[in-house]
Amino acid sequence: MPDDRADSLRSILDRTYDAPDHPALIEQTQMWRTAKPFAGMRLLDASPVFDNTLAKYVPLLAGGAELTVCLSPLLPHDRETVGLLGQVGVPVVTGDSSTEYDVVLDCAGALAETPSRTGYVELTKSGERVYESCRQPVFLADDSRVKLIETTLGTGDGFIRGLAHFGHWNLSGRSLVVFGSGKVGRGAAMKARGVGADVTVIDSDPHAQPPAGCTLIPADDVAVQALLASAWCVVSATGVRGALDPWADTLIRSDAVLANLGADDEFGPHMPPDRVLNDKAPVNFALAEPTRLRYLDATFALHNACALALLAGGKHAGLNRPPRAVEDEILAVVRASSAITGELPGIEHELRWQAPADR
Ligand SMILES: NC(=O)c1ccc[n+]([C@@H]2O[C@H](COP(=O)([O-])OP(=O)(O)OC[C@H]3O[C@@H](n4cnc5c(N)ncnc54)[C@H](O)[C@@H]3O)[C@@H](O)[C@H]2O)c1
Repeated sequence: MPDDRADSLRSILDRTYDAPDHPALIEQTQMWRTAKPFAGMRLLDASPVFDNTLAKYVPLLAGGAELTVCLSPLLPHDRETVGLLGQVGVPVVTGDSSTEYDVVLDCAGALAETPSRTGYVELTKSGERVYESCRQPVFLADDSRVKLIETTLGTGDGFIRGLAHFGHWNLSGRSLVVFGSGKVGRGAAMKARGVGADVTVIDSDPHAQPPAGCTLIPADDVAVQALLASAWCVVSATGVRGALDPWADTLIRSDAVLANLGADDEFGPHMPPDRVLNDKAPVNFALAEPTRLRYLDATFALHNACALALLAGGKHAGLNRPPRAVEDEILAVVRASSAITGELPGIEHELRWQAPADR
């Protein structure tokens, strides 16, 4: 029974996590356990399978879903967690393009060819281009305010823990340069500033906004060279492969700690992999939990809630933003009960933001 599976997964989670680590998912579980909105519905979920992903499955199972987990060929997974799913009785498949599901919960566009009766919910930015010409409705969970909790606060937290993992515990008074003042770079800068680092942010967009207390320098400013030569740590979060290649000579010669947060090799082909922490892979990916559940809770809840919105119908083909009311409900729970409530003021301005075409 899905209810039994939900309870089994919750017991496993309770060994590691406290309720404030996943309040939005707990609230969803409580609502859906009674309402059973997914009764008789077949859902396929391709979120990367790690310990903390179990928390995402609990509300779906409590809501009556016949849940199948798909191991994406594009993304990593934890084998022990997959084993746990098997023990609990949640089917796990490795790619499925023949069976039709009622809703497909995708990540990075891996399941775009899997037939879905009502449509798709895509978790990441990288799935956007895969789905933009889809002839069925697609919710893009990435196109949300909620996702900032994960990408800005969560990756920033992972960055600090990643540095510590490599022995760099003390950032107090040290000069840190962050390339990219986007969602990830701002989070890294904000968290580093919070533990006493002296942070400069470099962005190719001169109008980019640095977090409070950090200086912004345009990427083409003559001051960049000297800044890099004397920095204690240089971090890359531009989302652009090889963005730091023009600075490779300076950085190779310097003593700076180098860290990448981007999905691609942002330091470029001239930088030897062993000169960058974690061999150029995102520094937080060296950790057992690259992004902690407390920062993923709202994103997971939004991904799940969009499945329900798809079942309700009435959405146009192609990309749709998650309904604003759904985001607001999740944010209200996070503000009231999450372990990260105290960190929200740092991104509150963006959480309140209203897109011109917001519903
Ligand atoms: N490590 C993780 O856990 C994690 C989590 C989420 C995203 N990411 C990755 O982090 C990267 C950044 O994502 P984002 O959401 O912050 O992107 P974003 O588009 O919000 O921000 C990127 C910023 O970099 C700036 N930029 C681009 N090229 C530059 C250059 N050459 N020099 C200086 N600034 C430059 C842009 O103007 C922009 O402000 C992506 O690769 C993303 O996949 C990593």
